[in-house]
Amino acid sequence: MTQLLTGKEPAQAIKDEVAERINALNKRVGLATVLVGDDPASEVYVRMKHKAAATVGMYTYDHHIPGDTPQDEVEDLVRGLNADPAVDGILVQLPLPDGLDPDAVIDLIEPGKDADGLHPHSLGLVVLERSGGAVPATPQGIMRMLDYYDIETEGKLAVIIGRSRLVGRPMGLLLNHKSANATVVFAHSRTRDLPAITRQADILIVAAGRPGLVTADGVKPGAVVVDVGINRVDEKLVGDVDFESISEVASAITPVPGGVGPMTIASLLLNTVVLAESRIAAGT
Ligand code: GUN
Repeated sequence: MTQLLTGKEPAQAIKDEVAERINALNKRVGLATVLVGDDPASEVYVRMKHKAAATVGMYTYDHHIPGDTPQDEVEDLVRGLNADPAVDGILVQLPLPDGLDPDAVIDLIEPGKDADGLHPHSLGLVVLERSGGAVPATPQGIMRMLDYYDIETEGKLAVIIGRSRLVGRPMGLLLNHKSANATVVFAHSRTRDLPAITRQADILIVAAGRPGLVTADGVKPGAVVVDVGINRVDEKLVGDVDFESISEVASAITPVPGGVGPMTIASLLLNTVVLAESRIAAGT
């Protein structure tokens, strides 16, 4: 029987912890979101983040600006949020519309307010396996999910498909950390004979944004499969893996929706309260 790794329960456990930590602070904790343009999927994600924040008593500040906003205005908005004492965490929803430079925008976020853990400083701390910065929300959520379901990573071969700043690359680093001790392979769009590589994985993490990319013949019997994809196909949300066929082979698999997504949101909220605590401790 394949185990279904749903995100609802572990995400709720994180949100309960966030609510307690906010309560203990005796201070408003605020998360500012920046959404540029009207990409329908991004609008849904940001709305879900606001809703989840409200359930843990976190304040949100919604900055939804037109897709044709010039680069310098987006950057000014981020500078303003950096300077706003009510804002503990800043999230710039990606992707930005064509014509805007996401690196320049993210580089501007004050690392102490980088709720998504995407600033080069936050990512540098992840590279070095040092604490003190926000850990990218989706990979952090996946690590917490593996822990919640008692999935051993030590000595396991983890194959990650995708090398994005948001998911693939930091995911591999977290699994490579001494706290996880997996052996990590990064696969990507130029990987030759992908199924031959993925068939060796004890833990297969798929974050490619391509529905049906992995089918049962690319999965080792008993593997754990984590599907990070969210794709709309024929009005239905599907992941990057063929859930039906892989369920027959894998020992455990995340559903889409309801798997990784709730863990990303809960980890974002956790990052924000941790950043608020650090700011209070530093007296800034
Ligand atoms: N776009 C898709 N997922 C995410 C995420 O977790 N954070 C941000 N900022 N943008 C995203």
